[in-house]
Amino acid sequence: MTETPQSMIAGMGHAVPSKVLTNHDLEKMVDTNDQWIRERTGIERRHILEKDKTNSDLAKQAGVLALQDAGIKPEEVDCIILATISGDMPFPSTACFVQAKLGAVNAAAFDISAACSGFLYGLALADSFIRSKKFQRVLVIGSETLSRFTDWEDRATCVLFGDGAGAAVVVPSDGIKGIIASYIRSDGRLTHLLNTPGGGSAHPTSHDTVDQHMHFIKMEGREVFKHAVRSMVDAVKHSLKQAKLRPEEIDFLVPHQANVRIIDAIAERLHMGRDRVCINVQNYGNTSAASIPIALDEARRDGRIHEGSTCLLVAFGGGLTWASTIIRF
Ligand code: UT7
Repeated sequence: MTETPQSMIAGMGHAVPSKVLTNHDLEKMVDTNDQWIRERTGIERRHILEKDKTNSDLAKQAGVLALQDAGIKPEEVDCIILATISGDMPFPSTACFVQAKLGAVNAAAFDISAACSGFLYGLALADSFIRSKKFQRVLVIGSETLSRFTDWEDRATCVLFGDGAGAAVVVPSDGIKGIIASYIRSDGRLTHLLNTPGGGSAHPTSHDTVDQHMHFIKMEGREVFKHAVRSMVDAVKHSLKQAKLRPEEIDFLVPHQANVRIIDAIAERLHMGRDRVCINVQNYGNTSAASIPIALDEARRDGRIHEGSTCLLVAFGGGLTWASTIIRF
């Protein structure tokens, strides 16, 4: 373990839309059933953003709560890093919309695209900014409105995703608290397993791309599942090694919430019982970059994570990307 970690989380917040879509609601939309969805994924419901709202509205809500929790004013924020694959527009950065909505007038603001690993990529960047003394107060947000990019006629994907946002304020560490390990990786040879093919320079928007549903998320679920377990276990090994910790020294595991079977497989490899694992996929579905900050903030607020807890975060997503962070609270 590092004696003097360089950055720490000073405050967190999360937000989800009030509208809930249950498995039973989905039964009326596509050929699926509650039992299949629960057994194969663990998901029971997900939150869907109201029609008149955007990703940056959700991200702003989470950001406001995180800043309040940290006791930091919007104008004191130096940098906003927004992890998302479902922003307000192809450009400019959704982070810039959030900056304006927050009134964070003195910040640099930009998006990063690392799919479900995005929040941990953001934390790694924030940690580096703080270590290099480039910035002092970095707001990292994971915010997704995947419902806007979901093919509601495709039962293989539409049951999986949900909308939400989570945020953390990263500042210099005031002691042994903080980010004590951070590992990020990707494998661009596997982009075909999980992507949204239409709307970019590869397949610019046309009547044809729209007719072929190319603006929606496509996934080879079974293949992605295999890589998810393998890559997340790899990421955990690297971050534990960096922090010089053994799995039994981890108090709480906060994995990306895509599928309860993936979470159980990782926990089993680490010999961690469910009492030490954060699982909330049943309530939110897969919220991509937002899943870890939502789960982390919930566990902080209900006391499962407290002062002195050592938490292992691990994520996996399209790219493929994967990442792991260890934080001492
Ligand atoms: O967050 C980024 C990373 N993403 C992930 O980690 C997701 C990884 N993948 C998964 O979680 C799982 O692969 C899924 C939940 C997506 C799918 O579960 P699976 O156990 O791998 O199912 P499958 O795709 O192998 O499909 C099994 C069967 C198929 O029927 P046949 O061919 O066996 O007759 C599917 O057509 O289940 C059928 N099926 C469904 N049935 C009812 C697929 N989707 C549904 C559905 N309702 N919604």
